[in-house]
Amino acid sequence: MKILIAGGAGYIGSVLIPKLLERGYEIDVLDLFWFGNHLPSQVGTITKNIFDLKPQDIEGYQQVIFLAGLSNDPMAEFSPAQNFISNAAAPAFLGYMAKKAGVKRFIYAGSCSVYGYTVNELYDETCPAVSNYPYGISKLQGEQAVQQMADDKFSVIAFRQGTVSGYSPRMRLDLVVNTMFKSALVDGVITVNNPAIWRPVLSIQDAASAYIRAIESHESVTGIFNVASGNYTVGEIGDLVQAGIRKLLNRDVQLKINHIQDYRNYKVSIEKARKVLSFHPKHAVESIVEDLAANLDRFSDFDNENYYNIRIFKKLEAGRLG
Ligand SMILES: NC(=O)c1ccc[n+]([C@@H]2O[C@H](COP(=O)([O-])OP(=O)(O)OC[C@H]3O[C@@H](n4cnc5c(N)ncnc54)[C@H](O)[C@@H]3O)[C@@H](O)[C@H]2O)c1
Repeated sequence: MKILIAGGAGYIGSVLIPKLLERGYEIDVLDLFWFGNHLPSQVGTITKNIFDLKPQDIEGYQQVIFLAGLSNDPMAEFSPAQNFISNAAAPAFLGYMAKKAGVKRFIYAGSCSVYGYTVNELYDETCPAVSNYPYGISKLQGEQAVQQMADDKFSVIAFRQGTVSGYSPRMRLDLVVNTMFKSALVDGVITVNNPAIWRPVLSIQDAASAYIRAIESHESVTGIFNVASGNYTVGEIGDLVQAGIRKLLNRDVQLKINHIQDYRNYKVSIEKARKVLSFHPKHAVESIVEDLAANLDRFSDFDNENYYNIRIFKKLEAGRLG
């Protein structure tokens, strides 16, 4: 089966794609390669903006996956206009082109950020999605655009992912567990901005299995799915990272607890993904810390600007406007 992955050179794609190759899929990646190319050499690459996609670029694929866009709040807030173009219009355009080309399935990388600030209830996919900031709004718009194209010939699976963490060959140190891990090693301190806030965390290994389950699910499966490895308070994540680093790396780490108001607070139910996709996460935060510690040599140049999306994005925007 041939699959086209837009944004496949990013953090998630760089872990997912080697697993798809192992399973015998033929993979092409369409990407602007903002953070370089860390993909195996047998992956076909198309260096293009999604918006420059031509009908012939998308012929012959059975499935198309959207992993592109601006993938965090700081980028979205730095350029709300680019955010709405990249996160709302781009998946809509890609979905439209894919459906027109006869692609059978479209998978969308959405976010639990769409839930905004909730009141400590476990949210499933039927609960209200209300967010008031650019990233969350745009991820919901992208999701709605692709969902409404679904019909019996075009299956659309939209994930609402928790914050992904763990090691990827295209590393990011701006994701909650990864950030705490890095600051523990660099400063000897983990700063917890608000210990009471809830966050679903998704290990990158579990994220890859969710995509595999979606790709391999029956063609009749369509819909929105929360995906997470577990729900944690940020205070608890801090404790687990501290304990993991003490145990695995024998380093002493302090916790610094602040009480700063956050505009995101949610915990999610993954029952639908369990029942419909047979998604069974295996990697809790302890296991994510083990993954980071085991691969530490591969990303210990902590100042590498590629590990921080906002740094690269500011440069790209300066170039675009300059
Ligand atoms: N990482 C997370 O914690 C997380 C959580 C929830 C949702 N998501 C979503 O999952 C997706 C992938 O996340 P990631 O962490 O792998 O992102 P990433 O930032 O590492 O990678 C994004 C990739 O998309 C490419 N890209 C961006 N705009 C493009 C365009 N217009 N045309 C072609 N290529 C383009 C970039 O070059 C980059 O390689 C994103 O849509 C993100 O919003 C991520």
